[in-house]
Amino acid sequence: MATGDWWRHGVIYQIYPRSFQDSNGDGIGDLPGIISRLDHLNDGTPDSLGVDAIWLSPFYPSPMADFGYDVSDYCDVHPDYGTLADFDELVRQAHRRGIRVLVDFVPNHTSDQHPWFRESRSSRTGPRRGWYVWRDPGADGSPPNNWRSYFPAVGVPWTLDPATGQYYLHSFLPQQPDLNWWNPEVRAAMHDVLRFWLERGVDGFRIDVAHKMARDPELRDNPPEPSGGFPAGVRRDEDWPEVHVILREFRRLLDGYDDRMAVGEVGIYDPARLVRYFGDALDELHLAFNFAFLVQPWSAEAFRASVERYQSVLPEGAWPVYTLSNHDNPRARSRYDGGGASGERRTRVGAMMLLTLRGTPFLYYGEEIGQPDGEVPPDRVVDVHGRDPERTPMQWDGGPGAGFTGGDPWMPVGSAARSVNVAAQRADPASILSLYRRLIWYRRSSAALRWGSYESVGRTPGLFAFVRECGEERLLVALNFRDEPAHLDGSSLGLPHRGRLELSTDPDRAPGAIGIQPLRLGPDEGVIVRL
Ligand code: GLC
Ligand code: CA
Repeated sequence: MATGDWWRHGVIYQIYPRSFQDSNGDGIGDLPGIISRLDHLNDGTPDSLGVDAIWLSPFYPSPMADFGYDVSDYCDVHPDYGTLADFDELVRQAHRRGIRVLVDFVPNHTSDQHPWFRESRSSRTGPRRGWYVWRDPGADGSPPNNWRSYFPAVGVPWTLDPATGQYYLHSFLPQQPDLNWWNPEVRAAMHDVLRFWLERGVDGFRIDVAHKMARDPELRDNPPEPSGGFPAGVRRDEDWPEVHVILREFRRLLDGYDDRMAVGEVGIYDPARLVRYFGDALDELHLAFNFAFLVQPWSAEAFRASVERYQSVLPEGAWPVYTLSNHDNPRARSRYDGGGASGERRTRVGAMMLLTLRGTPFLYYGEEIGQPDGEVPPDRVVDVHGRDPERTPMQWDGGPGAGFTGGDPWMPVGSAARSVNVAAQRADPASILSLYRRLIWYRRSSAALRWGSYESVGRTPGLFAFVRECGEERLLVALNFRDEPAHLDGSSLGLPHRGRLELSTDPDRAPGAIGIQPLRLGPDEGVIVRL
C-alpha cells in the first residue's frame, strides 16, 4: 500500500458493527458481514464509494451495557461478532482493497465484568485495587465529590460497592468503572493492548473520550457550573494536564510502527482548547475530532464561522477533521430535514461541504444513502442515552430485513428503508449514493481538494463559498444553504468570467462551461467549479 499521510487526505467511514451487516441470521451485524460489504466501500472503481479507511466501533467481548463501549476483554472479539481469525481476515480483505482499518480504543474505563475490575473490587488491599478510582464515602455516607456522569440518566458517577464499603468512579454507566491512569501498571497494560492490535496489522485507533483519562488526583469538587457550561480549563473531572502526557506516550508507541495513526474523540467544543490535543510539538494525536458540525444550525454563516474559527487556532502542521454524523448524535439527514424537497437537497449540500473542505472527512454508515434516523418504539429502546435511532440497521435493500439480516434485527429497521436503500440508489445516477461516489472519486483525483489551501470568498447571505487551490488547480466551491435561488457575484471577488462546472448537487445540472459573473445557484444547490 502507498504510504504517507494517508489520514490527511483520505476519507474515513465509521462502521457500527452491530448494525452494518449480519452474516448468520441472528439479527446482529458481525465481522464476516462487514467483509462481505467491503466492495461497496471500495472495490477500486468509481462504482464503489471509494473510501480510504474504515473505523470500527468496538467489537470486543462486552456485556453490552453501552453496546461495546464497556469492554470486558480488550484483546478478543465478542462471539456475536466473530473471532480473531475473522478479524484478521477482515484486515487482509480490507488491505487488499486499499482500505485501512482503525479500531476503537476505549482507555478511560473497562466493563465492570473485566477481570481487572472483578479483582479490584474484591478487596481493599488486593494488587489491582489501585487500577480503578476508589474512595471512602463522606462522613454522612455521601459520594466523594460533586462530579456528574456524562449520562444525565445516571447522575452521580459514583457507586458504593458494599463488599468493601468504598465508592468507585464511573464517568459513564455504573457498569463502566473508570481506570486510574495515574497508576503506571494501568498504563503498561493499556500499552500492551495497543501493541496487540498494531501487531495484528491495524492502521490506527479512534481513541474514546481521549480528554477524560486524567483527572484531578485529589478528586476535588468542580466549581459550580455556570449556565452556559464550564469555561475551558476549570473542570477537575476531565481535560486535566496529565492527559497530554498520556497521549504523548501513546504517540511514541505508535511512532515505533510504520505509518499508523490515532484520531481522538475529544469532547471539547472550545477550539482553542481542542487544538492542544495535537500537542505543543505535534507529538500527541494525529487527528482530533472537531464536533462543532454536530451542533451547528443549518446556516452558511454558522458553518463558515465554525471552519474559520477552527482554522485560526489550528497549529502549524496540524490538520482538521470534519464530521456530520456518528453513533452518538442524531443523523445529519434528520437533523437538517427542513421538510419537503429541501430535506434531501440539504443532505446533498452537506455531503459536498464535508468532502470539499480542507480536512479529513469522516462519514457514518448510511450517510452515503441519506439514511435518516430510525423509529424506535419505547419497548425496543436499549440505550440509556437516547441514541438508538441513529444506530438502526444499514439499509441495503427494500426487503423486510433491509438486506441487513435474514433474521430478526436487534434494532428495528427504519421505515424509510423501503425507498432509501443501497439497491435502489446504486444504478440511479441521480441518487444520493451516486453523488457521494462522484464527490469522493473527484476528491481522490484532486490535489486541491485533498491538501490545497482554503480561502472563503464573498459574504452573500445564505451562501458558503470558498476556493481550494494547489499549484495550477483552482476550484471554487459554492454552497447555497437556502431554499431559494442565489448568486455569487464573481466580478467583485476577482474571479474569472468563466469556469467549468465540475459537479453540482443537482443531478439535472450537467458539467460543462459556465459563466461565473455571477454564478447562479438553484435552491439548496452546491457546485464545484474549476477556475
Ligand atoms: C464515547 C462513545 C460513546 C460511549 C462513551 C463511553 O463518547 O462514542 O458511544 O457511550 O464514549 O464509552
Ligand atoms: Ca450475526
